[in-house]
Amino acid sequence: MNDPNYVRIFDTTLRDGEQSPGATLSSDEKLQIAHTLADLGVDIMEAGFPAASPDDLEAVRRIAVEVGNKERDGRHPPIICGLARAVKSDIDKCWQAIRHARRPRIHTFLATSPIHMKYKLQLDPEEVVDQVREMVAYAKTYCDDVEFSPEDAGRSDPQFLYLVLGEAIKAGATTINIPDTVGYTTPQEFGALINGIRQHTPGADNVVISVHCHNDLGLATANTLAGIQNGARQVEVTINGIGERAGNTSLEEVVMALKTRNPVYNADTGIDTTQITKVSRMVASLTGMAVQPNKAIVGANAFAHEAGIHQDGMLKHEETYEIMRPETVGLNKSELVLGKHSGRHALRARMRELGYELDTGSLQEVFDRFKELADKKKVITNADLLALMKDELYQPEELYALVDLQVTCGTVNLPMASVRLRGPDGELATAATIGAGPIDACYKAIDAIVQLPNTLLEYTVRSVTDGIDAIGEVIVRVAPEQAQMRKSPQTGFDMPRQFSGHGAETDIVVASAKAYLSALNKILVAEGVEGMEETEQMEMAVA
Ligand code: KIV
Ligand code: ZN
Repeated sequence: MNDPNYVRIFDTTLRDGEQSPGATLSSDEKLQIAHTLADLGVDIMEAGFPAASPDDLEAVRRIAVEVGNKERDGRHPPIICGLARAVKSDIDKCWQAIRHARRPRIHTFLATSPIHMKYKLQLDPEEVVDQVREMVAYAKTYCDDVEFSPEDAGRSDPQFLYLVLGEAIKAGATTINIPDTVGYTTPQEFGALINGIRQHTPGADNVVISVHCHNDLGLATANTLAGIQNGARQVEVTINGIGERAGNTSLEEVVMALKTRNPVYNADTGIDTTQITKVSRMVASLTGMAVQPNKAIVGANAFAHEAGIHQDGMLKHEETYEIMRPETVGLNKSELVLGKHSGRHALRARMRELGYELDTGSLQEVFDRFKELADKKKVITNADLLALMKDELYQPEELYALVDLQVTCGTVNLPMASVRLRGPDGELATAATIGAGPIDACYKAIDAIVQLPNTLLEYTVRSVTDGIDAIGEVIVRVAPEQAQMRKSPQTGFDMPRQFSGHGAETDIVVASAKAYLSALNKILVAEGVEGMEETEQMEMAVA
């Protein structure tokens, strides 16, 4: 990209974002998100950390093959990037996974802050410089496009950074990425750091400077924008700002700031902003990480004008209180309701307006649910339709499906649930149990059938629309007792996997049962893959 004002969007939803507890995605889900990110127009996609587990390697490989070779509207496929610690074995695995893409990139990193070098790496600064030099050169033997990150750059000595980064560039790095790993810096400090790196790092003029900020102090977007103002031309971001702890910089905030305040930043991106709402919803559903209602750009209230004085102003002129048009981010305000008598065509047209092109099979599934809902609820809004669609289309393979559920609860007897499920071979199984409440009873009955010991870490229920007949959406996060392990890139420790599930129904006990089954199905599907011999997976990965 030769335009000096072009800012490359490096999306790390599938790597740093997926490291958030509970955000674990299956290979199919990652692929689904990767296609949507490519439609959104991201320039680079960090598809994962292949050394984390054979499953992670395989997911990155599939994305490299299927997304990394597909042109869209005459545009190149995105660059497919994999993360690797600065060690040979990680770089080897990373290359095995990404080499299938038309434009592969290896992203390798090593910490440079005094605290990380002393306690985590137990290396002297000189040893760190040597390892960076050697490992960037090693990555370069595989791939022309190599990115290097000095982890915890925000707390590193700038003079040391100039030295390390200069050596990385000499060894062949084409992008140098500056992470504020623990979200410690302020916009002024971070901007000055990027400016200093641009001025004092030997060779910095010939590479792309990138920024990667975390949101521990709520400053990730501000720091990223400060980086751009000081010459960064790549930004590392995630959809909805998901990521470890308080998350990463959110893609939608940076992109919309650059667009809305263009004269201030004088920088552009290749993002099709009308896809933002769609991808945000997809990521929220598949990761189980709900977006807070007041979240900038993609929160449910981001374009809602409740206060009477605002509504009055809005009616007189939209720009009185609206700095962005909702259509710009793909939010269609048309709230013409659908009802009992609406047909497939009307549903398809409305879904299209909402940004979803449904094939015949998916349309039928959503239509069936729509008709069921129309019998219970007079007025069906866009939010209802989106909840139904997510519930139908963003679910894992249904190894166990809910057939019947009956619950008794109240002030007189102990809460009791009786559940009937259809199992993987089509067999029906029934269990009835009592519990502390109706949901507890229902989950115990499901456990009695599925027999997958686990801990329920989180359970949330929210109403999708206003009104007593609203759809309730339930999200759960579950940790299997025999958790599969994946390596954390930062600590190198094996971390247990967690899984989320979601369900949406007007009956919240049914929604709860579906959400729990969705998480259990995800675990069982993942176990099926993990159950393969590791070597078998590796063979698949290098084939
Ligand atoms: O936050 C961080 O330092 C990272 C690196 C691996 C780039 O995610
Ligand atoms: Zn990070």
